[in-house]
Amino acid sequence: MGEILLAIDQGTTSTRVLAFDAEQLTVKAVHQIPLKQYYPSNGWVEHDAEEIWQATVTCLKTVLEQLSETTDSDTPTSIGITNQRETTVLWDRKTGHPVHKAIVWQDRRTASHCEELSKDTRLLKAVKEQTGLLLDPYFSATKIAWILDTHPDLRQQAQNGDILFGNIESYILYRLTHGGSHKTDATNASRTMLCDIRQGTWSEDLLNVFDIPKTMMPEICDNTHNFGSISSGLPGAGLPIYGMVGDQQAAAIGQACTQKGSIKSTYGTGCFLLENTGQQLVYSQNRLLTTIAYQTVGIRSYALEGSIFNAGTVIQWLRDDLGILKSASESETIVSELGSTDGVYFVPAFTGMGAPHWDADARGMITGLTRDSKASHIIRAGLESVVYQTNDLISALIKDGASKPGIIRIDGGMAANDWFAQFLANICDVRVEVPRSLEATAIGAALCAGVGEGRWPTLADAAKTATMEKSFKPVMTNDERQNLLSGWHKAVARCLL
Ligand code: G3P
Repeated sequence: MGEILLAIDQGTTSTRVLAFDAEQLTVKAVHQIPLKQYYPSNGWVEHDAEEIWQATVTCLKTVLEQLSETTDSDTPTSIGITNQRETTVLWDRKTGHPVHKAIVWQDRRTASHCEELSKDTRLLKAVKEQTGLLLDPYFSATKIAWILDTHPDLRQQAQNGDILFGNIESYILYRLTHGGSHKTDATNASRTMLCDIRQGTWSEDLLNVFDIPKTMMPEICDNTHNFGSISSGLPGAGLPIYGMVGDQQAAAIGQACTQKGSIKSTYGTGCFLLENTGQQLVYSQNRLLTTIAYQTVGIRSYALEGSIFNAGTVIQWLRDDLGILKSASESETIVSELGSTDGVYFVPAFTGMGAPHWDADARGMITGLTRDSKASHIIRAGLESVVYQTNDLISALIKDGASKPGIIRIDGGMAANDWFAQFLANICDVRVEVPRSLEATAIGAALCAGVGEGRWPTLADAAKTATMEKSFKPVMTNDERQNLLSGWHKAVARCLL
C-alpha cells in the first residue's frame, strides 16, 4: 500500500491537483483545468473565484478516482495547498460565495492610487520596513481597498464582519472546511502589503492606512500547520490539510533551496527568482522584495525576491495572439536553428515591468526589426527577453551584497526547454540546474503537508527528496555576453521612456 501526499496547485492560468508518492515524490495522478481570464479594462485582470473553487473540487475528485483505480491501494495521508499569490478574493462569511471578481496579481487598476500614496515618504518607509515590499498595485492591499471604496455596501458589510478577505489559498481552505477555517500562511500574508514580516502579524498601522477592517483578515499560521480537514460531502472528506504556501515559496522548498544563499527561479506566467537569506531580514537597495520564505514552529526564514510579470505569457502571446508558434515546445527547435536574433529585442512589458524597474505604465515593445526579420527572430527575442530579465534580477541581488551565485535551480514550463536553460547559463554566467521533476511548486506544497503530519522533522529534511537531473554550464565569451546585454538594456530604456 502506497502513501500519498496530495497538493492543490491553483495557478494564474489553471487549477491542478497532484498526487505524489510520499517516498519518491513521483506523480501518481494529476488533473488540471484551465482558468478563464477576464480583461474588463486596460491593465485589469480578473478571475472568478467560484470557478476556481468548482475546478478545485473537480480536480480533487478526478485525482482520487484515478488513485482508486490503481492496484497499489494508494492512500492519501494529507493535503497541501499552493497558489498564485496576491490575487484578492472577498467573500460572504455565511455563504462562502465571492462578492466580487477576484482581482489578479497582474492587475494594475490601482496604479494611480499607489502613485498618490507614494508621495508620502513616511508611508513608503513604513511599507518597506514593515512589509519588505514596494508600494505597488501588485500586492493585495490596494486591491482590497479598491473593492471597498468602489462598493460602499461591501465596506459596510465588511465592517459588520459579514465579508471576509483572503488570497486564493485562504478562499479554497474556507470552502474545503465549509467555513470552519479562515486562515492563511506566513508566505501568502507577506504578499498582501499588510503583514509586518518582522513579527508575522497583521500591521494595524497599514490596515488603518488602507482603511481595511481587521475583522476581514484571516489568521496567519505557519506553513506547516493543522489548517483543518476537508468537510463531509466533498471529495476527500476527512483528509487533513497540513500545508499551505504561496507558489513561489513552494517552488523554493520543492527545489531544496532551504540553505541560506540558495537561489531558484520559476518560469510560470511570470518569473520569480528567490534567494534564501536565512533568518536574516535583508532590505534591498535595488528594488527587490523582502519576503517570508517559510515559517515553521513560529520561526521565519526570509528571501529576497525578484518578480518579473511576463515569462510564460510571452510564449502564450506568440502562440495564441500572434499565431507564429504552434506550440510552446516548438519554440525550442525554432530558436536553436537560428544563430541569433540579428539585433531584434522584445521587451514583454504587457502589464508593466516588475523588478528591478517597477514601472506599472511601461508597455511592451519589439525593437531592431529590419526587412529581413522573420517570425523566428521575434520568437527567439521573446525567449531571450526572459533570460535577460532574469540576469537583471541577479545583477540586483549582487548589488544588494549577495556574492555572485554559482548555481541557479530552475523549474516551471520553460525549464523543459534545454536551449533556454543553456542560454540562461550563458547570459547569467552561472551553472543552471534543472530538477528531476519540474513540479517543484506542487512538491513544495506536498512537502509542507508532509512536515505538518510529522513525516519529516523539518522542511530542510523533507526537501532532501528533491534531486537535480540536468546541469548547464556557461560557454559564452564575456564579450558576446556584454554585447547582447548592452542591446537589451538599450531596448528596456526605450520601453521605460
Ligand atoms: O506572485 C504571483 C505568482 O505567485 C504567480 O505565479 O505561477 O501563477 O505565474 P504563477
